Amino acid sequence: MSVNSRIPGFYKLTPPERFKTIVERSGLSEGDLAGLAATDGKMLAIADRMAENVVGTLPIPLGVAANFTINGRDYLIPMATEEPSVVAAASNMASVARIHGGFHTSSDQPIMISQIQVVGAKDPQAARLRLYERRQDLLDLANEQDPLLVKLGGGAKDIEVRIVEAASKTYVVLHLIVDVRDAMGANAVNTMAEALAPLVEQITGARVRLRILSNKADRRLARVRATYDCQALGGPDVVDGIIDAYAFAAADPYRAATHNKGIMNGIIAVVLATGNDTRAVEAGAHCHAAAGGRYTSLSHYEKDDAGNLVGTLEVPMAVGLVGGATKTHPVAQAAVKLLGVQGAQELAEVIVAVGLAQNTGALRALSAEGIQKGHMSLHARNIAVAAGADGDEIEKVVSRLKDGGHVRLDKAQAVLAELRQSGG
Ligand code: MEV
Repeated sequence: MSVNSRIPGFYKLTPPERFKTIVERSGLSEGDLAGLAATDGKMLAIADRMAENVVGTLPIPLGVAANFTINGRDYLIPMATEEPSVVAAASNMASVARIHGGFHTSSDQPIMISQIQVVGAKDPQAARLRLYERRQDLLDLANEQDPLLVKLGGGAKDIEVRIVEAASKTYVVLHLIVDVRDAMGANAVNTMAEALAPLVEQITGARVRLRILSNKADRRLARVRATYDCQALGGPDVVDGIIDAYAFAAADPYRAATHNKGIMNGIIAVVLATGNDTRAVEAGAHCHAAAGGRYTSLSHYEKDDAGNLVGTLEVPMAVGLVGGATKTHPVAQAAVKLLGVQGAQELAEVIVAVGLAQNTGALRALSAEGIQKGHMSLHARNIAVAAGADGDEIEKVVSRLKDGGHVRLDKAQAVLAELRQSGG
């Protein structure tokens, strides 16, 4: 059946009304779409204020990674992810890192960049310098937009003006450099950029087009290093395997994308659990991975004198504790409480520590037994449930699937049918 997606006033309906509407429009039954409908009224009301056209919410597993010690302090780290083995691998590697003191981190001040694109300047070089001459006026006007941020020690701190040669035009691009303190900062810097546009037009005698933050948050890097005990990792051959895996990612973008995806498995799980902007962090990380002109590994691995593995990671980390979902989502609020972090920089550092642990965990598995073994138990459980197993049946199907070595839906269905026929 074809669907008519034109629904005037859809956004004005309540979530249950919207749900009813999409059931009607889809030609499906309420039962077919029951998974989309909200089951928790309180959460639904919150979700309806957070985004548009809401009909329900999507619960994602929220695990807590154990064993992390970072700069001498232990953390319980909430991780939201739908992927099996992620929380287990991070916790595992954190326990190996603990042997030699855990994770050591540092980070830049929370500096974001807002870009103002000037189009059609007749004298781009001179316009660039005129903007520098008015630096203080530009900063003052920017800071008038956010007195609270300024009071907290943040605010617009500097400008930088670049000439960007595009295909057929030259743009003057003003960067406003803003200390956003404990915010992710998008709202603060976007407001400032928009407020500055008329003055920038006046100074340059040209037109301003885009006024928006840059997700290349390369003045807001978070760093981590950890020493992983050689024996606890599985011995010298595993350490060499991890170093080979790293060297492969460093040299080959095809491998680097997967290697960095493994890092993001950990990073994004904490970013999501704390209600931060996962896409901003992803964009910043991958851009950073290509900062040298070629996409490469975000992490590095080397050996210390004793043959232990030393892992390091440095990534832009635009996350905050104030504003956005971090403040409005009850799960994010509880996640931040559990972490007990005092500021956005500490949160950024915890997140990169998880990213490194995640990466090492993946490389360790890949260099030793392979990734599938660890995935199998949870994967088999998912497959058993997908095949229709319920209650006690789930573990029985899982164990037969694992014994048979084929964790597939058709096998699970066959095993389940057999079980039911034989009465258990
Ligand atoms: C899977 O989600 C992540 C890995 O592919 C990462 C990697 O290959 O390094 C296992």
